[in-house]
Amino acid sequence: MQTLPPELTVLDHPLIQHKLSYLRARSTPKKQFRELVDEISTLMAYEVTRSLSLRRVRIRTPMEETSAHRILGKKLVVVPILRAGLGMVDGIIRLVPGARVGHVGLFRDEDLLEPVEYYFKIPGSPEEREFIVVDPMLATGGSAVAAVQLLKDRGASSVRFMCLVAAPEGVHRFREAHPDVPLFTAALDRELNEEGYIMPGLGDAGDRLFGTR
Ligand code: PRP
Ligand code: URA
Repeated sequence: MQTLPPELTVLDHPLIQHKLSYLRARSTPKKQFRELVDEISTLMAYEVTRSLSLRRVRIRTPMEETSAHRILGKKLVVVPILRAGLGMVDGIIRLVPGARVGHVGLFRDEDLLEPVEYYFKIPGSPEEREFIVVDPMLATGGSAVAAVQLLKDRGASSVRFMCLVAAPEGVHRFREAHPDVPLFTAALDRELNEEGYIMPGLGDAGDRLFGTR
């Protein structure tokens, strides 16, 4: 695991790298692609949730009463950026079943390469919650920057961003816009091409997840 200032963490665990190699491969069919997005999200969630708030509780073991810690599951909100972020949700809430799910609908205008908002719904009291925004791809960074800004505009103050593949251009833009938001990725790729696709990347994540090409 490499942490690069300020707060870019590349989660390069061998299991993640192994699964990512199949995710990237053009020959990987849709069913396996979905399963891999789900599995990698679970593996990443283990680290992304490392600094979640805990509350102290009293429990009784078979031996005696003691104090222990539990996650405030209801405080956590996973926010997929539609559509492709949806593929990452189950992999995270499998670990934190009490988490809520918000949705941010953004698509990237393929000429301007800028995000267009079409849906927004999150649980109430955002100022009291901890958000994990998820999207497989951080390309120009426009979608991620906009999604986090929409949450901040509603009062969110604790936000993390998690993606599978990031381009240096997107990381730079995201850190400029939201230096307070920890950014987690499974891979930091070489560059964007002239169409705004990540190289070597994995192609269009939404199309590969939902079979829409
Ligand atoms: C993809 C991806 C991100 C965005 C990344 O979504 O899932 O949301 O592009 O690009 P950016 O960093 O340059 O904004 P897309 O707009 O293709 O929509 P989709 O998920 O509905 O396919
Ligand atoms: N969106 C994708 O799905 N893939 C890319 O490489 C860039 C943006």
